[in-house]
Amino acid sequence: MILAEDILDGLSSARNVVALTGAGISSESGVPTFRGANGLWSKLKPEELANFDAFLKNPELVSEWYKHRREITRVAKPNAAHFALVEMEKMFRHFTLVTQNIDNLHRRAGSTNIAELHGNIERNYCLGCQRRYDGEDFDKNGSFRCVDCGSLIRPDIVWFGEMLPSSQWEIAENAAENAEVMYVIGTSAVVYPAAQLPMDVKRNGGLIIEINMERTPISELADASIQGSASEILKEIIVKIKEKISEESI
Ligand code: OAD
Ligand code: ZN
Repeated sequence: MILAEDILDGLSSARNVVALTGAGISSESGVPTFRGANGLWSKLKPEELANFDAFLKNPELVSEWYKHRREITRVAKPNAAHFALVEMEKMFRHFTLVTQNIDNLHRRAGSTNIAELHGNIERNYCLGCQRRYDGEDFDKNGSFRCVDCGSLIRPDIVWFGEMLPSSQWEIAENAAENAEVMYVIGTSAVVYPAAQLPMDVKRNGGLIIEINMERTPISELADASIQGSASEILKEIIVKIKEKISEESI
């Protein structure tokens, strides 16, 4: 991996840093991505399942599908890319992690300043009385109906056609507005409004560093578009930033 000297300078001196992550960062943990060669969506048809109408029409099927995905994410372990972002949170004065992932792996790795744009698969709530059903007990219980009112319980995630949670979107927008650097990691960058954030950073003069196995619509815009696995590349970037900082302090 080669980073131009002026870009490395920018990465090392930045105070406001943002990482925008997508499903690709969890693929090395064994959580399937949506798009691409081995994407979940090449086998199933989740666009037909991941919406409110589908849920009302066939709540058992949609609920079982999310239960299956929770089983995958629970046995998955955060990988070196998740841990690299925990380290970055400590390295920079203001570091915001904006994720489209619902798998909870960033939190389990130890990141704390997170905006979860698409919700979290470990949270559920009752459509009738809003009672919350969070964590593993929900699946142990075995029912997708509320114990209080009998209504359906849905996952607390964003489905097609739904708004993003405004509190999380505000954090992401503010962070992007102030970002000197945004790392765009493992996202196909085709789902809006998340895909808008790198453009906002660029418009405000910030650097975009993309890390992905393939080229995406963001690649053109990026100051550096690095092809490779998120874990390898992030580890290398951190080493280079640390070297740069220690050179400067000599
Ligand atoms: P996608 O599945 O669309 O894209 C995953 C990206 O990760 C692809 O561009 C891959 O090339 C890349 N990738 C795979 N393995 C990688 C690795 N080891 N290192 C680096 N990159 C890798 O996932 P998202 O962009 O997250 O929304 O999809 C966005 C949204 O679409 C999801 O949040 C989901 C879906 O609709 C909701 O669930 C609301
Ligand atoms: Zn209820």
